[in-house]
Amino acid sequence: MQAADLIEVLQTVRVVPVIDPKSQADCLLAVDALVAGGATAIEITLRSDIAYDTFRAVRAAHPGIVLGAGSVMDSQTYEKAVSLGADFTISPGRCLTLEAYVAGKPVAHVPGVVTPTEIIAARQAGQTLLKFYPSEAAGGASALKDLGRIFPDVLMMPSGGIKEPMMPDYAALPGVLSVGGSWMYAEGGKHRPAPDVSKVMARSITAMRGAAQT
Ligand code: 3PG
Repeated sequence: MQAADLIEVLQTVRVVPVIDPKSQADCLLAVDALVAGGATAIEITLRSDIAYDTFRAVRAAHPGIVLGAGSVMDSQTYEKAVSLGADFTISPGRCLTLEAYVAGKPVAHVPGVVTPTEIIAARQAGQTLLKFYPSEAAGGASALKDLGRIFPDVLMMPSGGIKEPMMPDYAALPGVLSVGGSWMYAEGGKHRPAPDVSKVMARSITAMRGAAQT
């Protein structure tokens, strides 16, 4: 999917669960519960041996959701993600060789940034849909508020350390397209029971939808 189509999906449901799978079965259970709670876009990071098979299994189980491949930093991993059915790929930082490789291809890649210098360079390369990572460590909603004043044309997908009580702060920012992370399915490193996953997911979507943007 192209960046414009991804933006359209995330404008409706501004919450993207990010899963670094430790077990295929647990990941599938979490995805089922997240989808039941209203998730329409999910990111699975390709950082481990089991991630590829898990990605394939999630794709087969949920052909209708928007599925992103995370931690994609080179063209080989990008092509692998595309072959597994990824709708988009995303990385924690800028990967210039990969960005050049992806230009004009039908599966969008979202580069990561933190600083104004990185945002300026990304915009100069034509990238205005960006991941902001690690969000909380880099200042969270407060930093994004300042960055949004300087770069009103940029849409951010912050993730990293975000928790449910922070939703209103992020939701209020027009430059925040979506928030991502693990809070909706895991707590203290352990997966929540499925009914709780669906509940937290649904509450997070509502919180991100309900805010008056400033
Ligand atoms: C990411 O890749 O965005 C992180 O894994 C987010 O995870 P966290 O919500 O657990 O920080």
